[in-house]
Amino acid sequence: MRISYTIDEARSALRELRADGRSVALVPTMGALHEGHLSLIRLAREAADAVVVSLFVNPTQFGPTEDFSAYPRTMEQDLAACEAEGVSLLFAPDAARMYAPDHSTYVTPESLDQVLCGASRPGHFRGVLTVVAKLFNIVQPDVAVFGEKDAQQLRLIERMVRDLDIPVQILRGPIVREADGLAISSRNRYLSSEERAEAVCLHQALESAQAAFRGGEQHVETLKGLMMNRISEAPHAELDYAEIVDDATLQPVRRIEVPALAAIAVRFSRARLIDNMVLVPD
Ligand code: PAJ
Repeated sequence: MRISYTIDEARSALRELRADGRSVALVPTMGALHEGHLSLIRLAREAADAVVVSLFVNPTQFGPTEDFSAYPRTMEQDLAACEAEGVSLLFAPDAARMYAPDHSTYVTPESLDQVLCGASRPGHFRGVLTVVAKLFNIVQPDVAVFGEKDAQQLRLIERMVRDLDIPVQILRGPIVREADGLAISSRNRYLSSEERAEAVCLHQALESAQAAFRGGEQHVETLKGLMMNRISEAPHAELDYAEIVDDATLQPVRRIEVPALAAIAVRFSRARLIDNMVLVPD
């Protein structure tokens, strides 16, 4: 496995990787790799000849009061994990190499970002889209893989690729969960053991909405009520949002007549956790 710390090094490693017309798949990450990330790497390996993983804790997607400096950094283990998964190139630049001191150009979404995490984290998706666009320009992958765990991020990236004609195919990777249903996240390590036990409420809230929906309940207010009730049973959980929106437009709906995205964000002291499920009518 090659490791590149600069854009120039990455470009020259990529020239070699692409020899003989070999295809390249990119898996963008912020490191602290876990089974969720590894599942995306495995999808990438099936989709292309060579896999590039980027590892960059992107400062522009963190708000001023968020956990940028505390974000877990586990470079040694990440390196070993990428090696074991057959990654060809690990691109791990530092912030000074990714952003010039007078960087002033951003990709700003004009829809899909007013709701859910976009509403709770102003400027977050501008930071995400900007860095993902930069990574696409640096790596120029044939395929890029993103997890369904970050449902809004995924839809915004798909929209950016379409709107800006970026020549890359986006693959969606399913959410990887712990045995009790908690979606795996780098931020789960912020949870105390008590909070960890309670954190299963996100998945259970989604499951209770899904069960009612499958039982014939189509009214969003009722389904949202079920989700909120389950979250309120967890004493340390502070609800950020529990929403059900049109899966394609992320606009509010009153009844589920087309596929809908049920999405939840909950804060447990240091950790803000998210989860989601798509509800598809017959
Ligand atoms: P990060 O949180 O490190 O996640 C990297 C990728 O892993 C994302 O596509 C995310 O959706 C996926 N992922 C995380 N947990 C997952 C799980 N349990 N199951 C499946 N996929 C999972 O998302 C980011 O980084 C950043 O915003 C990034 C896109 C790298 C831009 O900085």
